[in-house]
Amino acid sequence: MQKQFEVRTTGLLVRAPAKINLVLLVAGKRDDGYHELETVMAKIDFFDTLLFEPSPGPGVELLCRGKFELSAGPDNLIHKAVRAVFGHIGREIPVRITLNKRIPLGAGLGGGSSDAATTILGLNEFANLGLPMESLLQIGAAVGSDVNFFLGGPLALCTGRGERISEIPKIFDFRAILMLPNQNVSTKMVYERYVHDAAQYARQHDRLATYLRRSDLESAARMAVNMLEPSCFALHPELNKLKASVESLGLGRVTLSGSGSALYLLVSALPGQAQRAQSMIREQIGCECITVNNNRW
Ligand code: C5P
Repeated sequence: MQKQFEVRTTGLLVRAPAKINLVLLVAGKRDDGYHELETVMAKIDFFDTLLFEPSPGPGVELLCRGKFELSAGPDNLIHKAVRAVFGHIGREIPVRITLNKRIPLGAGLGGGSSDAATTILGLNEFANLGLPMESLLQIGAAVGSDVNFFLGGPLALCTGRGERISEIPKIFDFRAILMLPNQNVSTKMVYERYVHDAAQYARQHDRLATYLRRSDLESAARMAVNMLEPSCFALHPELNKLKASVESLGLGRVTLSGSGSALYLLVSALPGQAQRAQSMIREQIGCECITVNNNRW
């Protein structure tokens, strides 16, 4: 198993895991325009990496590498996290951060939030700041809704905008095929399109509450419910087609992660099962996919 922190010759390498939403329910729209959520999030072993090194000059230098084009400018969530940490400690630390981006953007996998959380954790370690978790959570909440989940975890029920974290103190081992369509989905647009179904919410809320009370994560995950699917699919019908095509292979239910575009399918941990499912999806559907497991931290 890969560790989160690894000391390298030049600095500190920190892994930023992606997440999937094992269940995502929308309880309704709030007066502030946000949507009230109930979602079970699980970290997976699919990572960006951030390398923290001493910087010769003052301030922060951010370099972005990897498969995806990403601005290294002030709008990058890593900068926002750095500013929040510096604001909290009242001084600046010269540091060079090199992001190696592997988690696709606009995929519902929480890559940006995870990078931000990893920046907070990484700076604390790299510069020996000694900030307690309470302070890290305070900084994380100011950076974005999903950031605090990535400071803890690896499994939690998240409510409110997604920022209220209730850790699930249980190891839920799972394996999934993660489909990565070449599509960047706007979370904002998916929520704008969202039409609330109060009856569906009430039904699924009761089911989820029952499973969580019994710590039955397997049944919760097998609900295969993400209430953002209709609005995401209205914007991107090809994702709905992809879901239907993969389901027609008879491998199981396919679920959207977050507001999309990534989709996943839970598979058995029996040897060869994931490999077989992955080959079928690649060869018969032609979608890029990888096998992932729950992450342990
Ligand atoms: O969390 P993030 O910044 O990715 O959210 C993007 C947009 O999605 C928000 O500005 C808001 O319009 C919408 N959103 C929402 N309810 C949530 C989370 C996000 O309406 N719980």
